[in-house]
Parts: sequence; C-alpha cells; structure tokens
Amino acid sequence: MPSPSSYHPHHRARLRSRAAPLLIVVVLAVVAVTELLRSRTGLPAPARRAGSATATASPSSLASTNQSVAQRKILLDPAFTPRLPRQSQLSLSLSARNALPPRNRDRFPTLPVGHLKVVLYVHNRPRYLRLVVDSLSRVEGIGEALLIVSHDGYFPEMDRIVQGIGFCQVKQVFAPYSPHLFPDAFPGASPGDCQSKDRAKEKGCQGDPDQYGNHRAPRIVSLKHHWWWMMNTVWDGMEETRDFDGHILFIEEDHYIFPNAYRNAQLLVDLKPKKCPQCYAINLAPSDVKSRGEGWESLVAEKMGNIGYAFNRTVWRKIHAKAKQFCAFDEYNWDITMWATVYPSFGAPVYSLRGSRRSAAHFGKCGLHQGQGSSNVCVDNGSGAVELEDADKVPNIKADWPVRVIQRQEGYQAGFKGWGGWGDRRDRELCLSFAYMYHVKDPSSS
Ligand SMILES: *[C@@H]1O[C@H](CO)[C@@H](O)[C@H](O)[C@H]1NC(C)=O
Ligand SMILES: *[C@@H]1O[C@H](CO)[C@@H](O)[C@H](O)[C@H]1NC(C)=O
Ligand SMILES: *[C@@H]1O[C@H](CO)[C@@H](O)[C@H](O)[C@H]1NC(C)=O
Repeated sequence: MPSPSSYHPHHRARLRSRAAPLLIVVVLAVVAVTELLRSRTGLPAPARRAGSATATASPSSLASTNQSVAQRKILLDPAFTPRLPRQSQLSLSLSARNALPPRNRDRFPTLPVGHLKVVLYVHNRPRYLRLVVDSLSRVEGIGEALLIVSHDGYFPEMDRIVQGIGFCQVKQVFAPYSPHLFPDAFPGASPGDCQSKDRAKEKGCQGDPDQYGNHRAPRIVSLKHHWWWMMNTVWDGMEETRDFDGHILFIEEDHYIFPNAYRNAQLLVDLKPKKCPQCYAINLAPSDVKSRGEGWESLVAEKMGNIGYAFNRTVWRKIHAKAKQFCAFDEYNWDITMWATVYPSFGAPVYSLRGSRRSAAHFGKCGLHQGQGSSNVCVDNGSGAVELEDADKVPNIKADWPVRVIQRQEGYQAGFKGWGGWGDRRDRELCLSFAYMYHVKDPSSS
C-alpha cells in the first residue's frame, strides 16, 4: 500500500477513535455495492488501478494503513458499463507515449515534500504555449514540481515545444480518445452523423440533437472531453500521481504564470485549513478573469475561478462522485458545467482561497476554437498582454492577513440550463466511461 507522508500518526489515531464505526459502515457499504455491481453485470473483478479499496480492504486493514478515506470511496453506478472507442494507430502510439516516465529526472531527481503537481492542458495554439512555457521557466520553485502537460489532439509543434522544456520534470500525455485523433469515426465525425439542425428521422442520420436542436460538433465537444479525461487520468490513472495526497494545480495554454505563482500557491495551500476551512480549493487569480485583484492586505475567499485552481484528492472524489451530472448536462464548457451542476450539488457555496493580487493571467484574443483550421487561423501572439510589477515577482501573501469572504457568487449558477452542444448520447457515455475506466474494466477491451 502506498504511504502518503502527509498522513500523520496522530491524525490516524484520532480518526480511528472517532470515526472507526463510520469507516466500517462505509467500507461494508462499498463492498456490498461492488458485489452487487459484479453480480448484476457479470463483470470480472474491477481492475483496481487507482487507490480504490472497494472490495479488498477489510475494516482492520483500512484502519492500519496510511491511505486517506477519501482515496478509497469511489462511487460507481452498477447499471453503467464503460465502453471506450476502438483506438486508431495514432491513438495507440500516443497511449504508448503516455506510459513513458517523466523527462528531466536526471536534472531534477527528487520532488520535495510539500511540492505541487502542475497540470497544463493544451490544444493547438503554439504561439500561446510558447509564452506560457516561457513564463513558467521564470517561476520561482518550479524545479520542485512535476509538470504534467496534457494534449488534446496531436500537433507536432505543440509536441516540440513541450519536449523542449528543461526547467523541471515533465510528464507528457495525450488524450487518446480526443476527437482530433479520429478523422472518420466517433469521437470524431463518422460518415452517418447528423449535421447541425438535421432531423435524424427524415435524413436517416445518427445523433441526438441538443436542447437547441443542434447536433454534435467534434471540435466543440473535445474541450469538455479533454478536461474530464485529464482529471480522471491525473487523479486515478497515472503512476506518478495516483498516490499523491497533496494539491494539483491546473493551468491552461492561455494562462500567463507570474514568477511568484508557485510559492504563493504553496502558501495558500498551507493557510487554507486554518484560514478558510470552508474553501475547497485555492486560486491564482480572481474568478473574474479580467480582474487583477483588489490589492487588499487580506486573503480573499470567493467563488471558484478557472485560472490556476488547485485542490486535493478529497475534493476530486467529491467531483468524481458527480460524474453522472457532469456528463449528462447539456453544456459543452467544462467550467460552466461545474458551476451550474456539480458545485451547487455539494450543498454549500464552493469557495476558493486566493491572494488579493493575481499570480496568473488569462491573455490573448484567440478563442479556443480559432487556433485550428486553415481559414480562420488566429494569429495573435499574446504580446503585451501581461505586464509584471515588482510585487508579482516575489511571494506577496502574508500568513497573518485576515480573510475577506465575497459571498455574492455571480455568473453561472444552479438553474442555468446550459448552452447546449452536448446532447449526443455517445458523448455522454464516453464522458461517463472516462470516470469509470480506471476503476472498472471495459468488458469489450479484453
Ligand atoms: C505510514 O507511512 C510512514 C511514512 O511514509 C511509514 O513509515 C509507515 O510505515 C506507514 N504506516 C503504515 C501502517 O503503512
Ligand atoms: C483536502 O481539502 C479539503 C478542502 O480544503 C479539506 O477539507 C480536506 O481535509 C483536505 N484533505 C486532505 C487529505 O488533506
Ligand atoms: C506579436 O504581434 C504584434 C502585433 O501583431 C507584433 O507587433 C509583435 O512583433 C509580435 N511579437 C512577436 C514576438 O512575434
């Protein structure tokens, strides 16, 4: 069993005395559900690649290991059987690359206690990526981190830029079921697919329209698929992170990262339990992406933002448990899906802790759908987008600051019905399969 170092013995003792009966109930319930799942579907024993202890852990072994309860409680719907598309040659070759160990281990042999994993997820805007990588190279402490770059699609220039990174350990992965890797089959476009507002019955085409009558567009759905595949993979499917009990920080190809970002993130992670126990995450920037921050002498707790957010496995398990809601909501943006369905279902406002000056900034004029194709290549290079001041170059968060809570949570909320783009049953099933693929074996794959 893995042994995350942050789980101290005295925590364990307290946990055991207060929560032992509860733990036993939880474990028994999970075992029961797993058994039910197997007997109903006739599945072989789940391939337990993640920290799932569903059927194997007896109550006593649970109490005596270091693994947190959060890592073990994985909710699975016995009525759902994951199925993944048949992989193409390209997809298979990328999967093989995904299994390679991180690069630069010789130069950065150890990842210190208290380090963060940093996940950079990218599509196809090489000019932007160059700028982001350049900004990361100047981040104080980045050499302590494992940088995971997750690609949506295979683009040689993007690959080259990532291969050129020399300032920390780098693990490079490619989403093997990206629509961009499947030119003539689902999750790409397949020959019989309905287009835009086609009527399936009249035309005899395949697909389910969204709530506005539109059929799926592979390059639009790829965003949400990639985010969800990446989340499941970095938390539950990757050798390098599977037993990690700290925080994982997520950034995108159009987020300029300030030199103080890593140290500020570590400070926020350390301060969170005391300063803001109700916070789920930390953020490097305000949730209003245009804001530079208030410049107050205080920390700020507000709605979760989508620039430089970091959380731990406990929070991931809560999100993962909402896979069904995430995958069924007719909205192609992952972040709006989170704000409108997943976070509201947690039962209390989801706050994130941040400094009052941003440590990361969204830049650029090109939208995510513009970096591709030949007719509408977006040529903005992001220059002049971000000016750094001296205060952005050193840690600028103070441990003795109070916390200001911004209670008004503007923007997308529970009740928003979604922008659509996510009506096709096949997308919803693929999405749900991503949530299951590291916990239950796909029966068609063996
Ligand atoms: C818990 O982890 C510590 C340090 O990682 C290790 O020394 C200890 O043996 C572990 N205990 C158990 C019960 O696995
Ligand atoms: C993870 O973060 C949540 C939210 O801040 C916190 O309640 C929980 O105790 C943390 N879990 C671990 C294992 O540190
Ligand atoms: C970026 O674009 C601006 C305006 O289009 C141009 O003036 C500048 O030289 C470009 N910079 C780089 C590094 O290509």
